Amino acid sequence: MNKTVERPKSSWASDLRVVWHLLAHPVRGSTHAERLESFYRGQADDYDGFRSRLLHGRDELIDGLVFPTGGVWMDLGAGTGENVLRAGARTKTLREIRLVDLSPSLLDVARKQLRVAGIDNAEFCLADATRLEHAAESVDLVTFSYSLTMIPDWFAAIELAHRILKPGGTIAVTDFYVSRKFSEDQHRQHGWLRRSFWTHWFAADNVFLSGDHVPMLHRRFDVERFDERLGKVPYMPLIRAPYYLFVGTKNDGV
Ligand SMILES: C[S@@+](CC[C@H](N)C(=O)[O-])C[C@H]1O[C@@H](n2cnc3c(N)ncnc32)[C@H](O)[C@@H]1O
Repeated sequence: MNKTVERPKSSWASDLRVVWHLLAHPVRGSTHAERLESFYRGQADDYDGFRSRLLHGRDELIDGLVFPTGGVWMDLGAGTGENVLRAGARTKTLREIRLVDLSPSLLDVARKQLRVAGIDNAEFCLADATRLEHAAESVDLVTFSYSLTMIPDWFAAIELAHRILKPGGTIAVTDFYVSRKFSEDQHRQHGWLRRSFWTHWFAADNVFLSGDHVPMLHRRFDVERFDERLGKVPYMPLIRAPYYLFVGTKNDGV
């Protein structure tokens, strides 16, 4: 039985620990997985409170999704399981929810939180979202929230999502981004300062904003929804970071 889960809270002390990790904690490791775990290990328990004020669009994205009865939902780069918690009782009819992440610390938090919430149709998968072994055309819904920018081979992750989705299946993505220097007419154009500032600011934490995620999503999927926004960043009152929401479907004929 799914229970209502308390929303993430944060305190000055937990914010301070997160900010220290973001700004000062050295990230070590010789592989992507080691670097991720080095980044997240010390802040896993404080993650949700701070990120709920930074990672805009997640709740709106999840609230707008349809969870098909008997279907399979794959959340790639699932972190602490916030998306599944947000979907809550609406996921009860799914046959399976699979949370995939490369950070054991974050997946441990997800496991605990989903147990407390009484969500018992979830599987936790410590794996690289670019190399996941999963049957083609077997998944109804794939989500990426703020994970594409942390996956160096993000194009491989999008190709994997396309491969595992059933024809007509849904992909839903929200993330930070910057526009290309010359964006498509129908898309927002970010100026040099905005593109340069956010690209370098996030790169310090191995978050790689790109002007190519959005065009690639538009190329591979039929677009159901695409919104471009600016969001607040905690402790930076005067500036806003660009993010987007994308919902698409895998074309039956592809
Ligand atoms: C900013 S967090 C977002 C987590 C969660 N989706 C959310 O919205 O709170 C990015 C996540 O992507 C995961 N990640 C990064 N690279 C990955 C990869 N190659 N395979 C699987 N997960 C990855 C990280 O461990 C982290 O949990």
